[in-house]
This record gives sequence, C-alpha cells and structure tokens, in this order.
Amino acid sequence: MEVVPLETSDDVARLAADVIETVVRTRTSPVLGLATGSTPLPTYRELVRRHVAGAGPSYDAVRCFNLDEYIGLPPGHPESYRATIARELTDALGIAPERVHGPDPTPEGLPTAGERYEAALAAAGGVDVQVLGIGSDGHLAFNEPGSSLGSLTRLKTLTEETRRDNARFFGSIDEVPRHVLTQGLGTILRARHLLLLATGAGKAAALAAAVEGPLTASCPASVLQLHPHVTVLCDGPAAAGL
Ligand code: GLP
Repeated sequence: MEVVPLETSDDVARLAADVIETVVRTRTSPVLGLATGSTPLPTYRELVRRHVAGAGPSYDAVRCFNLDEYIGLPPGHPESYRATIARELTDALGIAPERVHGPDPTPEGLPTAGERYEAALAAAGGVDVQVLGIGSDGHLAFNEPGSSLGSLTRLKTLTEETRRDNARFFGSIDEVPRHVLTQGLGTILRARHLLLLATGAGKAAALAAAVEGPLTASCPASVLQLHPHVTVLCDGPAAAGL
C-alpha cells in the first residue's frame, strides 16, 4: 500500500485526477469505479475543469460503475447515487448514461440486483481504478463494520452513525434511507487499482485503523491491506493519526 500524505484537499484532488486520467489515457476500454460522498467531489470537479479546458483525455471509451446506491428513494431523486454521479461527473465529461452502471434499487430489480451488478462488472472486464472514500466508522462503500471481508454486491442496512453522517445531504436524518445496495468488500478487492481518498480531521482515526490497525471486519477499510495495488491520498488533517 502506498500512502501519500499531502498538504491540502486540493492537492489530493489534483493527484487523484492525474491517476484517473492516466488510466483513461492508457487503457483501450477503461473502466472507472466511482464513489460518492463529499470526499471525491473536488477530484471530480478537477477532472471536469480539465475536460472543459480541453486538457483532459477522451472519455469516449470509458465505462463507469457506481459503488453503491440507496434503496427507497423515488426515481430521479437528486441524492440517489445515480443522479449524483451524473450531475457531479459523468454528464459533464460527456459519458452517456448507458455507460454508467449502478446497482438497481427498484422494487422489481432488487431481488437479483447484486447478481446482475456482479455479472455486468465481470462482462466489462473488471474495474481499472476504483475511487474510494472512507466512512468515519471505517466503512468502505456501504460495507458497515461487521461486513464479511469476502462479501459481494448485496443489500445492507445502514448504521445510525452513517445515516447521521449522510443526513447533511437530505433535509433531516428521517429522510436518509435505511437500506442500500453496495459492492461487497470482496468485489472492491477485485479492482486492479484502489485509490482511497481521505480528507479532514474526521477521517484521521478511521484512516489510521484501516492502514495501520489489524485486519478486521470491525474496520471494513482494513481489507485494503490485502490488495496488491492501493494508493491512499490524504491531506494533513486526515493523516494526523498515521
Ligand atoms: C458514504 C458512501 C461512501 C463514502 C463515505 C464517506 O456513505 N457510501 O462511498 O466513501 O460515506 O463519505 P464522505 O466522503 O462524504 O465523508
């Protein structure tokens, strides 16, 4: 695992954008794994800024896989992860919606959503670079503490801590869904390169546990220690516990 402590979150965004652009430039059919949450937003803005300035690579051949999705939001809800990724990144990069795959949270789709998502991922040849954030409780995607280290894409129940953390995107905690579909930890480990971004003091304890603590389901992000190609980009406050 390569841990790169940087000064600011802008430095993290610039370096993360460089890593993603390199994959897009060098692979013939690049597959990007995309995370939501606040942490990757400056990176996505940097990619869009470069694209609009004509300085980015061509995204024509890119396919994207969203890491996770809420269950129970009305279709098109602005906080669904499908809508968020389209708004924050893929629309602006000119990546057509049919090239952006996410777990299917519709009531009809739900029973087979995990299986179909895994099949689509395999058919695309797997993820070249997977962008990840980390939850304050050490979760990865929506794999809460206690998640099986070998888990695949499936339905999960959110902890109150995560619902509280994510309430800022909604009117109140009551509006935050209780259930989600998420790539499993085993799914995440299949990506060829994992790019974990961590910014802010609120991530210091979780990042230290993930990178330097024991491998344990109590800290799902500790599975990163099992992967042969992980890059951790963190700002000063997030690196404080290392
Ligand atoms: C969310 C997402 C994760 C994200 C994490 C941290 O619940 N499902 O993919 O990494 O929480 O979010 P943030 O970056 O907003 O702190």
